Amino acid sequence: MGICDNRTVIITGAGGGLGRAYALAFAAEGAAVVVNDLRAEAAESVVAEIRASGGDAIANYDDITSMDGARAIVDAALAAFGEVQVLVNNAGVCRDRMFVSLSEDDWDAVMRVHLKGHFCLANVLAKRWRDQAKDGLLVNARIINTSSGAGLQGSVGQSNYSAAKAGIAALTLVQAAELGRYGITVNGLAPSARTGMTETVFADMMKVPEDGGFDFWDSANVAPLVVWLGSAASRHVTGQVFEAAGGKISIADGWRTGPEVDKGARWDPVEVGAAVDGLLARVVPAQPVYGS
Ligand SMILES: NC(=O)c1ccc[n+]([C@@H]2O[C@H](COP(=O)([O-])OP(=O)(O)OC[C@H]3O[C@@H](n4cnc5c(N)ncnc54)[C@H](O)[C@@H]3O)[C@@H](O)[C@H]2O)c1
Repeated sequence: MGICDNRTVIITGAGGGLGRAYALAFAAEGAAVVVNDLRAEAAESVVAEIRASGGDAIANYDDITSMDGARAIVDAALAAFGEVQVLVNNAGVCRDRMFVSLSEDDWDAVMRVHLKGHFCLANVLAKRWRDQAKDGLLVNARIINTSSGAGLQGSVGQSNYSAAKAGIAALTLVQAAELGRYGITVNGLAPSARTGMTETVFADMMKVPEDGGFDFWDSANVAPLVVWLGSAASRHVTGQVFEAAGGKISIADGWRTGPEVDKGARWDPVEVGAAVDGLLARVVPAQPVYGS
C-alpha cells in the first residue's frame, strides 16, 4: 500500500535532478509515472530504474513548451494508464547573466520553458478535469508548480529566471483560487538541492558530507513533500508555496502590505519623498538578495 496507489503522475524534466528523485519517490508510493524529459536517454534510464524496483512508468520526450507537446504528453499518459491525477511542473533551464548583458534569446528561452511550460500542460489537464467535474465525476487532482528562492527573493545574475519563477508563484495563487471548485489543488515549491543546475554554482555549499552524516542537499530529501502534495490526502492544502531542502519544510509567506501612510487626500509630489522615507524607516529589514 502506498499513499499514491491508483494515481498517475506526469513529471516534467524528470530525466535527472529533482524530477528524477520525485519520479522514484512517487513510484515507490504506488503511482504510475510519466517520466517526461527532452533528454530521451535520461528519461528511459529513470523508467528502467522504476521498473527494476517493481514500479510502473513510461518515458516521454515531448516538449512542454507547446500545446501540441502538452496534448501529446497527456495522450501518452492516458494511453498507458487510463487517467492522470497529478501534474508536477518541474522542467527548467537557466541562462544566467547580469541583467545588462542579457540577450533577448536568454530572456525568451527561460520564459518559454518555465512560464509557458507551466501553462501548457496545466491548461490541457485543467480543461479535462473541469469537464469531468461538470459531468459529476469526483475529481481529486493536483498541480504542483516549481518556483524558486530566486523567484521569492530575487537572485543576482538571474533576472530572467527570477522573473519567471516569481510569475510561477503568482500563477499558483490564481490557479488555486480558480480551480478549487473542480477538485483541483495547486501548490508551488521552492526547492534547494544538489543537481545538474546547481552543482557548479553552489558546489562548495552543497558538498556531500565526508563523515557520512545526513546529506542535506540530496534531491531525494525534497521528494516526500512533493509526493504527499500529489496524494489524495492533501486535498485541504491549496494556494501555498513551500520551501523545501534537507529535512526543512516551510511556507513562503508571500507579499503582504507593509508600513502604510494615508494622507486622506491626494499627495503633492514634493511631499512624497518625506512620506516614503518615513515608510522605509518602518520597514522590517528585507532578506538579503540571493547571490549578492
Ligand atoms: N536544484 C535547486 O536547488 C533548485 C532551486 C530552485 C528551483 N529549482 C527548480 O527545480 C526544477 C528542477 O531543477 P533541477 O535542479 O533538478 O535541474 P536539472 O537541470 O537537474 O533538471 C531539469 C530537467 O529539465 C529538463 N528540461 C529542460 N527543458 C525541458 C523541456 N522543454 N521539456 C522537458 N524537459 C526539459 C532537463 O533536460 C533536465 O533533465 C527547475 O524548475 C528548477 O528551476 C531547482
